[in-house]
Amino acid sequence: MANRPPRETLEAARRATKKRDWPLASELFLELSRAQPEQPSHWNNLALARIHGGHGEPTCPQRRAVLLCPDNANYLNNLSARERGDARARLLERLLVIRPDHARARADQAFYLLQAGHADAALRAARVAHVVAPELSENLGRAAQAQLAAGDVDGGANFFRRYSVLDPDDRLGVRRDLARVGALDTDQAMSPAFVAGVFDGYSERFDEHLTGTLGYVGPRVLGGMLDTLSIQPAGRAVDLGCGSGLSGIELRRFADHLVGVDLSERMLERAGERGLYDALHKAEVVSWLEESSGGFGIAMAADVTSYLGDLAPFLGAVSRALLPNGILAMTVHERSASGFGIAVGDTYSHSFEHVETAARAAGLRIMAIERGAMRMEQKQPLPTMFLVLGKS
Ligand SMILES: C[S@@+](CC[C@H](N)C(=O)[O-])C[C@H]1O[C@@H](n2cnc3c(N)ncnc32)[C@H](O)[C@@H]1O
Repeated sequence: MANRPPRETLEAARRATKKRDWPLASELFLELSRAQPEQPSHWNNLALARIHGGHGEPTCPQRRAVLLCPDNANYLNNLSARERGDARARLLERLLVIRPDHARARADQAFYLLQAGHADAALRAARVAHVVAPELSENLGRAAQAQLAAGDVDGGANFFRRYSVLDPDDRLGVRRDLARVGALDTDQAMSPAFVAGVFDGYSERFDEHLTGTLGYVGPRVLGGMLDTLSIQPAGRAVDLGCGSGLSGIELRRFADHLVGVDLSERMLERAGERGLYDALHKAEVVSWLEESSGGFGIAMAADVTSYLGDLAPFLGAVSRALLPNGILAMTVHERSASGFGIAVGDTYSHSFEHVETAARAAGLRIMAIERGAMRMEQKQPLPTMFLVLGKS
């Protein structure tokens, strides 16, 4: 019905938006944008419908909206949400000229200045943001991160104490920054809420970025090792930290019933779209395993130990959930120093000795190990141990 009057199309588009029918809303707002290209709200609504629907690259319509109406705070805010680093910091600066009291934009500005490496400017932005909205935990968290980035550990720790009262779950990942400079126990660095947020934000471009840009081969190598060991389909299998389901593609071959567990809701949505899993659970893997009734023949943890510090609780929980002779296939970013720590890419790496000791204590023996790179990290191959462990 491309020839209907724009008013009718707009009403239909609003109805579709209300019903959260994003494909239809996108189609109708596109029709409107073409019919009335001078109308910025159509372009902005088109972008929002596409974002909600998880389809298409919405930056272009959002740019059109800002070009047509450069002083609209909403359009600037929506466009900035699609940009990164310096570009985002600049858009937020424009937005803050129009709406100096926009507390969240101020907190975001501090974050993107930090990302672009401007620690002092980030600290100034976070301090102003805290004055504008002292109740917003982000402002204290970003101030802590900026202070740490500027090399002031005591100042950072001080802001962190105030931040953690408002956000004990550490959604911003300040604990990781403190651990990196030795001001917090390494094992405390990665908060589940932070990891979930990172992967929620990453989910749309995860598959393409991981397999395309970063050359991710973790599940494929693990699957090949299971084949070499002639592992047969083993009843119930669990994909620990299943993400968008790339690991499920391999694991499904060894499972009659496949369960996926992950912290990130958006990643689980992607995994669900593959139709590979019999059940998906939004949970932290160790807690979930502790509460599960177990009975798994095989488990996989592909590129997941990077988010777990001490592996002893994880391997203990996996072992208890496995049937006798059950199998765990996992990747570990290998560290040459002893123990485990925060490594390149700001995630954990573990030494072979740490893995072996924790595995033995959990009643798991190493059946096979290969060394290589599961993917690139900061343009370098990531030293990786690919391991198959068996429950004794
Ligand atoms: C790099 S992705 C790997 C996903 C998938 N295994 C694959 O091979 O593509 C890591 C995933 O582990 C999840 N994750 C990290 N720590 C977790 C934890 N403690 N509990 C549950 N999921 C976790 C993240 O949310 C993310 O989806």
